[in-house]
Amino acid sequence: MSDIGQNNGRRRFLTTVTTGVGLTGVAVALVPFVSSMMPSARARAAGAPVEVDISKIEPGQMLTVEWRGKPVWIVNRTETMLDNLKTIESKLSDPESDESDQPAYAHNEFRSIRPEFLVLVGVCTHLGCSPTKKFEIGAASDMGDDWVGGFFCPCHGSIFDLAGRVFRNVPAPTNLQVPPYSFISDNRIMIGVDPEEVS
Ligand code: FES
Repeated sequence: MSDIGQNNGRRRFLTTVTTGVGLTGVAVALVPFVSSMMPSARARAAGAPVEVDISKIEPGQMLTVEWRGKPVWIVNRTETMLDNLKTIESKLSDPESDESDQPAYAHNEFRSIRPEFLVLVGVCTHLGCSPTKKFEIGAASDMGDDWVGGFFCPCHGSIFDLAGRVFRNVPAPTNLQVPPYSFISDNRIMIGVDPEEVS
């Protein structure tokens, strides 16, 4: 083969290799992006995730959304609400949530990813009624002078604090469930998807 023929062949080979590397680069770059937008097959099979804008929930207020046919509460807890959690631990059945149902990233003193935002499945762990919020405190509440806010299940009288932790001597056996959820931005959460699935 002549020098010209050899050079043309070498150019075609290099062009093919370069194009191949370029396409592979695009494919590699796209995979993490696409997987960051999609819940896992396990999550999809269990029920579609629900995205919630939490920016309008004022401190001390609660928003209820539906996920998998159940109410999910999102509470924006004030500093006082968070401070009060410590004061009632001796009255709780499982203050460390060791026997209760929450993802590992919510197995902490506030049972949440960010302390102020509590996310709970609003279904009583006794027989499945939906408890009522009782955020008034002390004499202003109908829960007793030492009440610091929480939830009351009217069906059989179970009581939970503002981390969903159950009080002693009530029928509910465990704390309220914390569902899987993630922050997808400062003001938006996705219920039904673990943080590692969106990061
Ligand atoms: S269902 Fe809530 S106390 Fe029985």
